[in-house]
Amino acid sequence: MPLVPKAIVKLVAMRYVAGEDLESALATVADLNTGGCLATMDILGEHALSGEAADQTVGEYLEVLEKIRSGDLNSNISVKLTHLGILLDYDGAVRRLGTLVDALEPNDNFLRIDMEDSSLTESTINLFREIRGKTPRVGTVLQSYLRRTESDARALGALGANIRLCKGIYREPEEIAFQDPDEIRESYIRSARALFESPDSFVGFATHDRALVKSVLELVQELKIPTDRFEFQALLGVPVEDLFKELIEQGYSVRWYVPFGVDWYAYSTRRLKENPKMATYIVRQMFSPRRKRPSPS
Ligand code: FDA
Repeated sequence: MPLVPKAIVKLVAMRYVAGEDLESALATVADLNTGGCLATMDILGEHALSGEAADQTVGEYLEVLEKIRSGDLNSNISVKLTHLGILLDYDGAVRRLGTLVDALEPNDNFLRIDMEDSSLTESTINLFREIRGKTPRVGTVLQSYLRRTESDARALGALGANIRLCKGIYREPEEIAFQDPDEIRESYIRSARALFESPDSFVGFATHDRALVKSVLELVQELKIPTDRFEFQALLGVPVEDLFKELIEQGYSVRWYVPFGVDWYAYSTRRLKENPKMATYIVRQMFSPRRKRPSPS
């Protein structure tokens, strides 16, 4: 991927991003809402390089919350702790997260702390626990590739937590993470079961894996979980519209993750790497004689 010119990556990658500015993202959310879907808005960016940059991110998220409310949109927000500067200054990131959490009540909204690589699992869960003690308007994410996740799911489920359950996107060592796709799926279902042991938890099933969605549907039917205790989630641009349409028709809630902003490169390259057709797209873009010249941005 680093060998592919950034302009080419951009041509293909923008399918995963709602645009570079807030207005484009709000328009995407409005369209999704019209189609009966919910959204979670994510300002692209991770690893803030300075406290000032992290403060600016907070200001941008406050604007997002305000626009969601004034536009009467159905979307919450997803936030990365590294974007709030947790690797620069832990206390500063906690303070910034606190500013966002304080804005949730007046905007009647909800914030989910995305989960990053395993060096941040413990601090993310601890911080989440601390804030969850004060407000139910926050949730976080568990990754089923981590061996610890079933146990975390049981513990956080007992708090009545709102958890997004995904497989996990970062490369993690065998000692702490399952590597085999079937083991990751089995851990996903065990963790979902553990989350549902509590009657108060809520689960966002974030996966595009059709077999796994089928297993989730079997699980919720077996456990007789009411439909207001879970939802399905997908990333903008991943072609699962048909599956989501079917889920909506069956009465389930679905939510799209809507990332936007100028820092699209790291996010999009992660998405491209997990797309089995990525190589074909890129080669086609690079060698098609009818290809337009990519813009230099
Ligand atoms: P899998 O990777 O097996 O994909 C299943 C099928 O979906 C593939 O065969 C392919 O057909 C299709 N597909 C998947 N990705 C595609 C793509 N990019 N383009 C085209 N087709 C694609 N991770 C994390 O570590 N922390 C987090 O906070 C989050 N947050 C998050 C939110 C939401 C809403 C989603 C859906 C996912 C995340 N993830 C995440 C990412 C997650 O951990 C995982 O890496 C991806 O969802 C891919 O895993 P799947 O479960 O979709 O299965």
